[in-house]
Amino acid sequence: IFSGPISFLKSAPQLQFLPDPSVPEIAFAGRSNVGKSSLINALTNRNGLARTSNTPGRTQELNFFDVGDPLIFRICDMPGYGFAKAPPKTVKKWRYLINDYLRGRQVLQRTFVLIDSRHGIKDTDKDVLDMLDKAAVSYRIVMTKADKVKSDALAKMAEQVEAEARKHPAAHPELLITSSEKKQGIEDLRLAVLESVQS
Ligand code: GTP
Ligand code: MG
Repeated sequence: IFSGPISFLKSAPQLQFLPDPSVPEIAFAGRSNVGKSSLINALTNRNGLARTSNTPGRTQELNFFDVGDPLIFRICDMPGYGFAKAPPKTVKKWRYLINDYLRGRQVLQRTFVLIDSRHGIKDTDKDVLDMLDKAAVSYRIVMTKADKVKSDALAKMAEQVEAEARKHPAAHPELLITSSEKKQGIEDLRLAVLESVQS
């Protein structure tokens, strides 16, 4: 599937611009700069499909990508949450957009919540996890940028994150550990994505 056609469909700055809910969707959520867009590029094996940047706040709308021709499912790349440097109005707008999409999207099969391997789960992440629990949206936690930490620190962090995940009823208990840079954990992510859109 990931070696077949995959293309950018559209950007939705507001919920009224979402694509027709005709096929399953999966979404990538996480703090600004955590590596959402990079992970979508690694997942789909296409550099530059989703736009990435060193500067947090790169993705500003819900961006949809069509997978398969005929269409099988869609990937949604989201703006980051918890980006303090953006104007408060912008942060608020993103928060509403993210929350409304995640809570209300019928075709959303699973959300992948990305956590930076260096930083672990922050309060803003917990808020999002709580929101997803309440809305009963199934999600899976994905550690990103694993290449940035030494293996013992990574193991420790993964343990902490896993312990937190176990407190959340809608969280898949098993973590995925990835590096888009080193293409680590990408095959497992692909399997997890396919599993979530096929069930
Ligand atoms: P926003 O759209 O701004 O919320 O950010 P994002 O979560 O989409 O992050 P993005 O993919 O744009 O990546 C942010 C920065 O982290 C870029 O400079 C990437 O090159 C870098 N990055 C992403 N993934 C990895 C990784 O696995 N390893 C390393 N070392 N850097 C990464
Ligand atoms: Mg992005």
